[in-house]
Amino acid sequence: MEPYRVKSVEEIPFLTAEERKDAILKADFNPYKMMASTVTIDLLTDSGCSAMSTKQWSAMMLGDESYAGSASFERYQSAVQDITGYKYVLPTHQGRACEKVLFNALVTEGSVIVNNNHYDTTKTNIALNKGIALDIAMVTDDTVDFPGNMDIDKLKEVLAEKGEQIPLVMITATNNKMRGQPVSMANIKAASSVCKAHGVPFILDGCRFAENSWFIKERENGYGDMTPREIAKEMFSYADGCMISAKKDANSNIGGVLAMNSEDLYERCVPYVIATEGHTTYGGLSGRDLEAVAVGLYEVLDESYLRYRRANLKFFEEELIRQGVPGVFPAGGHAIFLNANKLCPKIPADEFPGLTFAGLLYMESGVRCCDLGRLAFGPDAPDLIRLAVPRRVYTTEHLKYVARMIAQVTEKNKDRKSGLIMTKSPPHLKHLTASFKMKEEL
Ligand code: F0G
Repeated sequence: MEPYRVKSVEEIPFLTAEERKDAILKADFNPYKMMASTVTIDLLTDSGCSAMSTKQWSAMMLGDESYAGSASFERYQSAVQDITGYKYVLPTHQGRACEKVLFNALVTEGSVIVNNNHYDTTKTNIALNKGIALDIAMVTDDTVDFPGNMDIDKLKEVLAEKGEQIPLVMITATNNKMRGQPVSMANIKAASSVCKAHGVPFILDGCRFAENSWFIKERENGYGDMTPREIAKEMFSYADGCMISAKKDANSNIGGVLAMNSEDLYERCVPYVIATEGHTTYGGLSGRDLEAVAVGLYEVLDESYLRYRRANLKFFEEELIRQGVPGVFPAGGHAIFLNANKLCPKIPADEFPGLTFAGLLYMESGVRCCDLGRLAFGPDAPDLIRLAVPRRVYTTEHLKYVARMIAQVTEKNKDRKSGLIMTKSPPHLKHLTASFKMKEEL
């Protein structure tokens, strides 16, 4: 059960079917263009929409809004140092700002950045610096213990071939593009030693570092008796630095962390933080935001919280399996992914079966989710729909409702033959910005 009780509630909107149809048409069938006031259960992302705790809210009242050297920064810095073990700490307003700063500092034309899988903003930030993002995740299925792992042989190969062009190697844990699946400690350790041998900095994208730590505790030999905090500390110890979106595993509504051991790397990042985020002791955040992150970083590693978080996702997964929904199971840490080709098998691949299903689900139920397949990651990616679960927000009753609605929409549309047509196709981040219309009248 949830290791907390409810103190404050937020009403959720209930619309009529007619109003929902109107809302999705106005949003051009792109869930990212919808107004939240038209959404009943919002599973678009797990980012920035966590419920904060009483301790976080009360810490916010202590926010010191001094321009430089605030007491809030000291508390934020000390939490980051304590949890990650890194010496140098730069706040940013969110994860992608860490990417921008780090890549501005390290990436030049033709640089190759290697990662198990780059998240879409990571890849875009590399492209905007004229670099190349190379994904070398292990090719496996989701039934192995750590489907998020990097292919270490491939890493060795790439470093041997292109070492000169590689200013840094990253590992994303959990691996968002790989359906939020975890990366093992052994894999992080192996990547670390290969990078050390080549003298290349190794950076952890730790947006979901706590969830990854929990999987290691559950699944990897030798970690069962360790606390998530000890496991996280060990993960960070193998890398030279990290980027964390505090909007995820810091249970905060905004914030980012860029931390590292190298003074030289820190010095190179500082001008970009100051020029684009703010002074090095606030980085685009108010003092009160820094306070929320400082408290959230500890809360997210709390064992009772992580046990519940895992159980909450597992419950959702089991409900879907019980209803016969074709998902990619076992699921990862923050979301459930469904296989669009199996939900709507008769809709042609070029008519966006995933996004079509997301639109149909919204119209039927008011549930918002997103397509995170070909549209986000290119034509070779599997066509998937993501139902991301915000932290501490929805109860099992909410998730039961979503599972029932998904089953209902799947059944109703199994013979549907037509999907969506893209009417506006911007060059970058299409899944966030493109427009669509139904090929046939609704
Ligand atoms: N890295 C990973 C692995 C992410 O999942 C995200 C964001 C970022 C970096 C960027 O962080 O949003 O704070 O700027 N993922 C969110 C998602 C948006 O919906 O999966 P940010």
